[in-house]
Amino acid sequence: MIRPPNIFLVGPMGAGKSTVGRQLAEALGYEFRDSDQEIQRRTGVDIPTIFEFEGEEGFRKRERNVVEELAQEDGIVLATGGGVVLTPENRQQLAARGFVIYLHCSPEQQFARTARDRSRPLIDTEDPQQRLRDLMAEREPIYRQVADMVVSTERRGTASVVKEIRRRLE
Ligand code: S3P
Repeated sequence: MIRPPNIFLVGPMGAGKSTVGRQLAEALGYEFRDSDQEIQRRTGVDIPTIFEFEGEEGFRKRERNVVEELAQEDGIVLATGGGVVLTPENRQQLAARGFVIYLHCSPEQQFARTARDRSRPLIDTEDPQQRLRDLMAEREPIYRQVADMVVSTERRGTASVVKEIRRRLE
């Protein structure tokens, strides 16, 4: 069994990073961390409020600081935000400090999983489905580039995804 110092989950909104991360951490005996939650805990406000007052640029700066700090820990499963790979320093931290798993699913599936929730400012638009497609087209090559393992979460439950990851780490 490969036991990397840390496991970093990357991938688009709605891929299941937080849900899978929580269960994977429990199954492996790692601590679970979530970079968006950490940002919200530190600022005391939610993600849409940060985007409203500081723009995406301000959010990315906070995200970079949090990722840099969390990546120094050992024995964590970290669920990152969908845009984490856009920042070169983050890509470098993830590669240096752990094993990166890209949770992959289609924009249609992402939409189905995120449609009812307004907590994601980048898709709080008139046509969220198209936005998800555009973001995916831009980011997919970067997710693949940073990934040590790619796992599909398309139309499947968390337990099955966690089982596959454990099997492939053996
Ligand atoms: C973002 C994804 C969100 C959150 C922020 C920006 C993105 O995280 O970090 O709204 O750029 O794709 P999730 O992937 O957990 O939804």
